[in-house]
Amino acid sequence: MQLNRRQMLKWMGATTSLALGQPALFARAATGTEIELEAAPVMHKLHHAPEAQASTLWGYDGQVTGPTLRFRQGEKVTIHFTNNLPEPTSIHWHGLRIANAMDGVSGLTQEPVQPGESFTYEFVAPDAGTYWYHAHHKSWEQVARGLYGGLIIDPAEGEILPETQDHLVIMDDWRLNETGRFDAASLGAPMDWSHDGRLGNWLTVNGESLPRFSLCKGASHLLRLVNASNSRIMEIDPERFGGKIISFDGQALPNAPTALGYKPLLLGPAQRVDILVEPQESFTLEELSREPFAFCFFDVTTPCENVAPFVPPRPNPLPVPAKANRFKFDLRMTGGAMGRLGDIVYQGEKMQRGDFQRTKQFWAFNNVANLAEEPLFTVKQGEAVELNVINETAFMHAMHVHGHHFLVEDRDGNGVEFDPLWRDTFLIGTQQSTQIAFVADNPGKWLFHCHMLEHAASGMNAWFQVE
Ligand code: C2O
Ligand code: CU
Repeated sequence: MQLNRRQMLKWMGATTSLALGQPALFARAATGTEIELEAAPVMHKLHHAPEAQASTLWGYDGQVTGPTLRFRQGEKVTIHFTNNLPEPTSIHWHGLRIANAMDGVSGLTQEPVQPGESFTYEFVAPDAGTYWYHAHHKSWEQVARGLYGGLIIDPAEGEILPETQDHLVIMDDWRLNETGRFDAASLGAPMDWSHDGRLGNWLTVNGESLPRFSLCKGASHLLRLVNASNSRIMEIDPERFGGKIISFDGQALPNAPTALGYKPLLLGPAQRVDILVEPQESFTLEELSREPFAFCFFDVTTPCENVAPFVPPRPNPLPVPAKANRFKFDLRMTGGAMGRLGDIVYQGEKMQRGDFQRTKQFWAFNNVANLAEEPLFTVKQGEAVELNVINETAFMHAMHVHGHHFLVEDRDGNGVEFDPLWRDTFLIGTQQSTQIAFVADNPGKWLFHCHMLEHAASGMNAWFQVE
């Protein structure tokens, strides 16, 4: 049985406006440039109510959320990864512009790491900012079970805030059953795959139910929000607590901090936003897309001694795509429930009625579901690429380009409200068109997919070649 949020609340006798949470448990930070990381099953409680049972999840280093990995821009990082899960896996460093062989896409950039085996990831992150890492093999199941963590790249030079003023807020949306456990029975439900993905009924921050953070009155605090959910688009409103926006997807806005009215502020799966607060009073971070639902509480204490001032980040060295001589590609997104399924080709064959339930392929880019054997397009290294994406489905999607950041230049032919934003994942509304552009400066095979992980698994998945 699937409970909705209201039923969950009733069952727990809890209201989210009550301060029920325990102290926030913070993932430990990794230090040094050479680390070990292990994926394995882990028992973890996802709901704070005493009667809620612990779930068997999958985590990194015995935790859900995994340890926060924190490195410096430009430094060489070595991660010795061991898979102690009952099935193969791989790790993707979401948003980092690194060598293709280290991108962690099983079946495209590497073979999956078998149970009991290891793989060494090595990279140099060229850009500072807030990123995250997650499993990239059967992501729809492995990320849902907890295989993700935060990834912070500090600027190569300059001041950063001390840990007491820098907070990672990784938000997830879980589907719990009536015992409060992770609902594993509904993983892979065709109904989710053909509609808006696996949506849950309970929210966590850093793997905890309603955690509390403590902030110093009037001091600058950076809140690094990451949406790690499979498919939930989260709506937040920083204005409610006087928050200003510093960056999206790790890339600082040119005029940061800014109170520009990104309203409503939607955070799609895999997207990040860094928010600066200088709080005078305690506040609650809430998800607002339906009735307000608390993520976590920020308790503001008396002023602290020795607080550091916030220094706006410098822009990262992202290559700006020239307007002239672009490689242009039109991409039409189709399929899904209430959408056109009739033209979808899968593994070289046009699908017929009845094939959809069998193949679980419901979505397509330019009529092809899960383009695996050949690239969507091929460009030369250094070429400016312009993608014109049109969403002809009845659902919103969160589109992610691997290995590159791009500028969101246009929506529906009307330009964009503020300066074009650098992103690695963009939301696209139903019947909306969006133009993005980037310089394909990194050779290899790069994935382009919907980050609603059920949509990626059921057709919205393809790659392009930079040579
Ligand atoms: Cu965040 Cu293809 O992934
Ligand atoms: Cu999608």
